[in-house]
Amino acid sequence: MTKCLVTGGAGFIGSHLVEACLEKKSKVVVLDNLSTGRKENLPLSDSGVEFLEGDITDRALLRNIKNQHADLDYVFHLAAVPAVPLSMQDPVNTHRVNFQGTLFLLDTFKDLALKKFVYASSASVYGNPNRVPVREDFLPVPLSPYGADKLAGEHYLRIFNDSFNVPAVACRFFNVFGERQDPSSPYSGVISIFFERAMASKNGINSSLEIYGDGKQTRDFIYVKDAVKAWLHLAEEPGIRGEVFNVGYGSSTSILELAHKVREVLGADIDVNFVEPRKGDIKHSQAEIQKLRDTGLDFDYSFDEGLKRLAEYLEVKVQSES
Ligand SMILES: NC(=O)c1ccc[n+]([C@@H]2O[C@H](COP(=O)([O-])OP(=O)(O)OC[C@H]3O[C@@H](n4cnc5c(N)ncnc54)[C@H](O)[C@@H]3O)[C@@H](O)[C@H]2O)c1
Repeated sequence: MTKCLVTGGAGFIGSHLVEACLEKKSKVVVLDNLSTGRKENLPLSDSGVEFLEGDITDRALLRNIKNQHADLDYVFHLAAVPAVPLSMQDPVNTHRVNFQGTLFLLDTFKDLALKKFVYASSASVYGNPNRVPVREDFLPVPLSPYGADKLAGEHYLRIFNDSFNVPAVACRFFNVFGERQDPSSPYSGVISIFFERAMASKNGINSSLEIYGDGKQTRDFIYVKDAVKAWLHLAEEPGIRGEVFNVGYGSSTSILELAHKVREVLGADIDVNFVEPRKGDIKHSQAEIQKLRDTGLDFDYSFDEGLKRLAEYLEVKVQSES
């Protein structure tokens, strides 16, 4: 039986990863400070998940975890201040968590015989690329402290892979969406916000889909279960290490198209409202995923199937709450 430490496991992507690990009969230890995550996201009772509430910047705590779980096979590191705008408001705190926290984890767990250390990086490392789709070997020019820290984390992963023999790999997530993504923050993924508004409108609450600018900006949205599948595939392939992989579908959808799809999939007659473009918003983001495909990965879903599954989940949730 394998054992995984999942930092940020009470968050959106982390909780899906925990579920997938449990399906593989792994033991799971979650470290999360619940700053944006929620304990309710985790299957705690009788599931074999050990939940530790704490901070990845607490080095004494990390050492304790290492001592108590010296038989860890995997460190899956997703804990982070997860938004570009938050990093603009408070670059120092973001750096402390997103960069220092990553370094502390690498440094603490480097002595264990890990099968893999996997790190959640981000498409934001590319900044505003000259052309899309972006390939892993394009020059990264992050535009925010969030992107800069994610990139620095990638460099440290490579260094610990090469110099300290920590088998490490980084997933550059594009726009991940799916069940349990929290729509309550203005920095949340646009899909969770659009779904929340469209559901509200279906339930008679006056609401609209707000689009910044002309809505022609494009994103590469990937359903969370496929993002997690890619993550575990990269973790479990022993030959893959010291590398960075784009994790998206390699497709591109405009925000305007997305608004139409959300209306359609929920059958919601909700207005679209155009507002001022957001400062610093990237125009186009799309992953080149040949490198990921070459590892033998096939996705289980598609963008449209992910949207459908999310719609079904939310419909059931609303019914069970009413
Ligand atoms: N959602 C996306 O589209 C996306 C895209 C690119 C990269 N990422 C990265 O993937 C990871 C997961 O993102 P998410 O969307 O699930 O966000 P999330 O906010 O749901 O998850 C982050 C988790 O980390 C925890 N956390 C934050 N700071 C911590 C700290 N100091 N110590 C311990 N735990 C801490 C939070 O409580 C939360 O549970 C993050 O690293 C994020 O930067 C996400």
